[in-house]
Amino acid sequence: MSRAATARVYAQDTPFAREVRTGLAQEQKSIPCTWLYDRRGSELFEEITQLREYYPTRSELALLRDHLSNFGRDFGKHACVLEIGAGASRKTRLLLAALRAPYAYLSVDISEEFLYEALQELQSEFPEVRCTPLFLDFTEPSALSKIGQRLPAEGPRLGFFPGSTIGNLDPEEAGRLLSRLGSVLEEEGALMIGVDSTCDPKVLLPAYDDARGVTAAFNLNLLVRVNRELDGDFRLENFRHEARFDAEHSRVEMHLVSLLPQRVSVLGRTYLFEAGESIHTENSHKFSRAQFLQIAAKAGWSEGAIWTHPDSGFEVHVLRRLRAHPPLPIKRN
Ligand code: AVJ
Repeated sequence: MSRAATARVYAQDTPFAREVRTGLAQEQKSIPCTWLYDRRGSELFEEITQLREYYPTRSELALLRDHLSNFGRDFGKHACVLEIGAGASRKTRLLLAALRAPYAYLSVDISEEFLYEALQELQSEFPEVRCTPLFLDFTEPSALSKIGQRLPAEGPRLGFFPGSTIGNLDPEEAGRLLSRLGSVLEEEGALMIGVDSTCDPKVLLPAYDDARGVTAAFNLNLLVRVNRELDGDFRLENFRHEARFDAEHSRVEMHLVSLLPQRVSVLGRTYLFEAGESIHTENSHKFSRAQFLQIAAKAGWSEGAIWTHPDSGFEVHVLRRLRAHPPLPIKRN
């Protein structure tokens, strides 16, 4: 067998291959958004965070700058910080600097090289913090127990889940993740989480379809990745990026829209596209405060501090574990 053919056989059975195969065979074609973050995708996302139109990062950084020093003073010493989906870790720096003598930092991400590089830099800036990278997909049900095994037993546990990444999940999935995070962070644990409730399409649509086309490049890069890793023959010029606001589900959707009728081959299978048909590549749910708190409560978290950005709908919550309910008193007649 030629090397290319052998590579193709191996590529068939990766999680990426399986999810793309399943996703492209559906009536509404889709590919899960986790696959947007190869090296190039992570770089493009970092570029998105610097865009004028993309308010979430700017809003959240402002909130962290305003509130972290007080938070760090009050939170216990020697914290164990667990971050999921850290990316370039600009916010992590602010958090670690604000905490008093943090004991350890565990960073979970699906962008392998990016994770190791970012963590190496962070480690040199915080030599006294035990920094550990963990390359895995935190949306996998088994991921949290793997994370639990890597968390040191010392110190109070603090989960850090900024960026409104939680919005990639629908309300049910978000609840399941929060509940799994709860078992890892334990009784005394806290969770600092960014949530975006913006629902004005005039703000949302430019944020997810910027004038310079960085978000379009980020979305289209998924096809580049499929071509490279799954032997695909997507022609990028035959697709365009689209951001849609779905008011009913309160979410922004990213799609890759086929500009003409065409056939595309991936790992030896052929997929047909009509003109205007799309691949759905991401959901960004915009949870209202009430909706988010309800999801969190069902997952065993109670409302703590809420930091609200004055201009955007962005909030940072510091959730606390709900104490186990005391047993109900037995009624006697
Ligand atoms: C990294 C998931 C928070 O949904 O706003 C940015 C990803 N997609 N522009 C978001 C994203 C398009 C981002 N998150």
